[in-house]
Amino acid sequence: MTTRARILVIFGTRPEAIKLFPVVHALKADPRFDCVVCVSAQHRQMLDQVLDIAGIVPDHDLDVMQPDQSLDLLTANLLTGLGKVMDAVQPDRVIVQGDTATAMTGALAAYYRKIPVDHVEAGLRSWNIYHPWPEEVNRKIIGSMASLHFAPTTTSEAALLKENVDAARVHVTGNTVIDALHWVTAEIERKPELAGGLADLEQRFAGKRIIGVTSHRRENFGDGMEQIAEAIRRIAARPDTAVIFPVHLNPNVRKVMNERLAGLDTVALIEPLDYPHFARLLSISEIMLTDSGGVQEEAPALGKPVLVMRETTERPEGVVAGTAKLVGTDAERIVTEISTLLDDTQSYEAMARAHNPFGDGHASQRIVELLAHEIGQQA
Ligand code: UD1
Ligand code: UDP
Repeated sequence: MTTRARILVIFGTRPEAIKLFPVVHALKADPRFDCVVCVSAQHRQMLDQVLDIAGIVPDHDLDVMQPDQSLDLLTANLLTGLGKVMDAVQPDRVIVQGDTATAMTGALAAYYRKIPVDHVEAGLRSWNIYHPWPEEVNRKIIGSMASLHFAPTTTSEAALLKENVDAARVHVTGNTVIDALHWVTAEIERKPELAGGLADLEQRFAGKRIIGVTSHRRENFGDGMEQIAEAIRRIAARPDTAVIFPVHLNPNVRKVMNERLAGLDTVALIEPLDYPHFARLLSISEIMLTDSGGVQEEAPALGKPVLVMRETTERPEGVVAGTAKLVGTDAERIVTEISTLLDDTQSYEAMARAHNPFGDGHASQRIVELLAHEIGQQA
């Protein structure tokens, strides 16, 4: 009997969980691998929402989240905690995803042990170290240590080559978020009640044009959040619109939004939605207004115009495809851009076309085959 390669998959936040559950499903279904899952729980409730839906029970759970955690404390706790798990598990390879503190420290702890670390969603670059902050630098750190770089698109592949990463180590796989979106869509088709919890809101806002909102970026804290809240207040004051805003659990977001928007008739500030319900929100929204990375990838796949409340993006593919537009965080600008889409059918239709610049839904299987090939080479 040949031994199976032990792969330690590490994640800690909602978006990492969404983008890695398809990889975990694929590894667990493949007899060539022994897949061990470690969650840092950098997020707690928002991570558990994804684990529940995806049916993943972690083998290790560091439970590191603290209220309003600082980057210093978080990073220190993650590095020591993840190192201990690696010493116990003794993996052949480690997988991290994206650009969070969990991903960066997971890669570093693996590197300290000379364990090859493979990077899912490699090569995203805005070329501005403060937008997104601290993610741009986290990605570069991971890229400097990774063994295999799974770039979602040719744009991210080109960014890695520009940094002199060995071309033979870079593979364009598509983004696993599209795999996740396909999986959840099929689940909802099978069991529509999984996404039925928005029915009351849908009834309350019947006849209104729904704007879906998410916001959480650290670089937008303070004035940016105040501006975003003001823009939402003005958009929701139109007689034809309503805003549905599942508010991130970060207290820096919740405080501003609750102070500025609670009690408005046409603004629903709701708790973070699990993934099937968020997929439902995407489908009933006419426009998405967001500073999220993942939503920038999902909205184009569904043909939803997405206005991105950021100065730069490391995901230019949606902008190039015409489905996404960078609008920054100035309230006046956001209101103008939304009004244009709502009032000018041509502008709306130019953006509302389904594109799949981020992948075809088969990224996870490609990643698993590339891992198998790599392990075969080493054997
Ligand atoms: C983190 C990531 C960011 C990612 C985002 C996705 C870093 C540095 N930041 O940002 O890259 O885009 O997640 O959402 O890795 N909280 C809860 N419950 C939860 C989740 C968060 O209460 O389930 C609150 C806690 O008070 C926590 C705070 O949110 O301290 C901030 O969480 P943290 O992971 O540090 O940062 P995010 O802003 O969520
Ligand atoms: N999402 C979700 N519920 C919500 C808001 C977002 O499931 O209430 C999903 C969304 O579909 C996307 C991911 O969470 O896949 C984005 O996570 P987030 O915005 O927290 O992080 P980012 O992508 O910006 O790193």
